[in-house]
Amino acid sequence: MPLTPAEMRALFPIAQRYAYLDHAAIAPLAIPVRSTMDVFLTRQTEEPFELAHWERLRSQVRSRVGELLSTGAESITFVKNTTSGLGLVAAGLDWANGDNVVGVDREFPANVYPWMALRRKGVELRLYRSKDGRIDAAALARLCDGRTRVLAVSAVQFWNGFRLDLTGLRAAVGDEPLLVVDAIQAAGAMRIDLRQASVDFLCAGAQKWLLGPIGIGCAYVGPRMLERLHPVVIGTDSVIRDEEYFDYDLTLKPDARRYEETAPNYPGILGMGAAVNLLLRAGMPAVEQEVLRLADRLRDELPQRGYELLLKPSRPAERSGIVSFRHPRMVPAELHARLREAGIIISLRADFLRASPHYYNSDADIDRLLEALPQ
Ligand SMILES: Cc1ncc(COP(=O)(O)O)c(C=O)c1O
Repeated sequence: MPLTPAEMRALFPIAQRYAYLDHAAIAPLAIPVRSTMDVFLTRQTEEPFELAHWERLRSQVRSRVGELLSTGAESITFVKNTTSGLGLVAAGLDWANGDNVVGVDREFPANVYPWMALRRKGVELRLYRSKDGRIDAAALARLCDGRTRVLAVSAVQFWNGFRLDLTGLRAAVGDEPLLVVDAIQAAGAMRIDLRQASVDFLCAGAQKWLLGPIGIGCAYVGPRMLERLHPVVIGTDSVIRDEEYFDYDLTLKPDARRYEETAPNYPGILGMGAAVNLLLRAGMPAVEQEVLRLADRLRDELPQRGYELLLKPSRPAERSGIVSFRHPRMVPAELHARLREAGIIISLRADFLRASPHYYNSDADIDRLLEALPQ
């Protein structure tokens, strides 16, 4: 039987006290996530280290993450966070003076700085500037030319929640360039099907919609990227003979594990695995549907209460779990403080507020937010 929203809610102690609607920032931990991490820490406190056991679990988590993204375990590598995932690509491709990367204006810095830093290699960063917060795939594709090596986008924009159609983008842009996706605002909330979207690289930290701990994340490395991307840091875990310490043999693993150098973050990986298990037990189609249903309530009801939405989706497919809004007169920081006082947790960003409900939130959480907002 799939895990229902109410059953998942019972695993989040925070939900008893707060209307926690801030999954686009940092997610709270569920009991099984914490207890899975605790098991590792307790065992290491009390028993000799059992490498083979933890390695078995690491590879199980890799498979489960693959399942969540509809791809195979061989394409998954663990990363520290989204930034370091994108940084793997920026640092590991062979760049030539005059190459360019095409990105999007108002992206989170994680998807800007790694590319901007390539300036020292003579690589130009071109940013698409949207007028209304939407990304038009055809217009974005027009920024690309024969020297565009990477098109770097977020699956969902962190500031206004616009969801990009990755399959449509690939169709608009053609086979080249490499399509690199920051999926942290989508993975765990929206379905991601890597069998369909011809993405070359995608990564996400675990700390938001994936409901995992901070300091761990996952990345998908597609076949084309695997061929072109050099591991920047190489260690025992990158090579085939990973238990051979004397007879050096720099033959890389044939799959995405080559990007993990050594000494993995076991507590983080196991915690992320426990969180991904919850999402898989609920089922991503059900999770997406419920997240959109709760967010749609806000999209419908906030304007009726005099608030402006930063994005009014023109097509259902543009929606995500993020709803950003502001009041024409009220000061966002004051509203934010007032909500927090009332136990309602959302984000304050620049001059607007951002709510982001997850599967386990209830209609009562949404009511609590709406009722606490002055009209
Ligand atoms: C689109 C996007 N990318 C990346 C991040 C964070 O990146 P990292 O996992 O490196 O902290 C955020 C966090 O707010 C984000 O919204």
